[in-house]
Amino acid sequence: MFRETCRVLENKKIAPGHFVIKFASKKIGKKAQPGEFVQILCSDSYEPLLPRPFSFLTATPSNFSILYHTVGRGTTLLSQAKKGDVFHILGPLGRGFTVVSSQISAIRKKQKIPLIPDYRLLTTFILVGGGVGIPPLFHWAEYTLKRRLVSKQSIHVFLGARDKSLLLCEDSFKKLGVQLHLATDNGSKGHKGVVTDLLKQFFLSSVSCPLSSVVYTCGPTPMLKAVSALAKKYEIACEVSVEVPMACGFGACLGCAVKVRPQKTENRKQKTESKNLSFAICPPSSEQYRFAVACCEGPVFPAGDIVWD
Ligand SMILES: Cc1cc2nc3c(=O)[nH]c(=O)nc-3n(C[C@H](O)[C@H](O)[C@H](O)COP(=O)(O)OP(=O)(O)OC[C@H]3O[C@@H](n4cnc5c(N)ncnc54)[C@H](O)[C@@H]3O)c2cc1C
Ligand code: FES
Repeated sequence: MFRETCRVLENKKIAPGHFVIKFASKKIGKKAQPGEFVQILCSDSYEPLLPRPFSFLTATPSNFSILYHTVGRGTTLLSQAKKGDVFHILGPLGRGFTVVSSQISAIRKKQKIPLIPDYRLLTTFILVGGGVGIPPLFHWAEYTLKRRLVSKQSIHVFLGARDKSLLLCEDSFKKLGVQLHLATDNGSKGHKGVVTDLLKQFFLSSVSCPLSSVVYTCGPTPMLKAVSALAKKYEIACEVSVEVPMACGFGACLGCAVKVRPQKTENRKQKTESKNLSFAICPPSSEQYRFAVACCEGPVFPAGDIVWD
């Protein structure tokens, strides 16, 4: 985790109320993993006092970008930022999505085994995103494809929005060459209805969706809940990124508590401790669940660990 003063390289409107801002960064971009996030202090004054959390959209050793929706004071200030402005940013924070097969791939590379091995063709990677939950999924796809950890044929991206103008990152995903499945509430593009209708059809087709599939999802809570339920029903592994309101971003304020089942997250707890992150674990408040701090133990959790109210 670094505290860095980052210069704005560009800040572009990409859809109604949505912008992509790119920052120069020597430290944060280099370490960013898909699903991790930054805390941005959006103002030099006391309003707003607290930094705001945003997922990475892209990251390289010299810069990173985020895609944001203007919903309040902080994001409105961010939308007014000009090239050359500076922001105080903390990151990368949290635990991101599993970057599947990375170790196997590194071993193969070392042994000079061709990098199109069969195991990658056996797994289908299913990314399901809505709204500002889409950026970390794009980061996952770009990150894994750049490193040749997965093949583009194995990635299926499901995007849902109210209207076609809000199908964020559609063109960027197309450029990656992944399989796209689109749904809009008003039918202006793709399937008319919710994205989980398409996902259900996909799960029902055992040809396109083998048991070794894995789902990564981020977006509005009702969508996460529905995706988790479908993944459970069809016995598909699933990781969920929860975007709960956060204050500090590093485990100090306990303001980002989410209910999780106690036993199953034990491993993640140990892994988090071994990364020497500072975090606080709330004791189990009942036999059914305990509170996890989403900024350190998450924001990505195994779907089966989350207790949806
Ligand atoms: C790990 C994480 C990653 C995120 N990634 C992105 C991203 O990539 N792009 C993006 O646009 N946004 C993202 N968000 C949400 C973003 O942090 C909020 O939209 C932002 O803090 C709002 O700040 P504001 O000052 O503009 O609005 P505020 O004035 O603070 O709030 C405006 C409205 O938004 C609601 N709100 C604030 N935070 C959240 C939240 N986390 N979830 C749901 N509602 C919220 C408030 O309750 C209020 O109704 C992420 C949040 C988390 C926790
Ligand atoms: S935001 Fe402070 S503990 Fe998570």
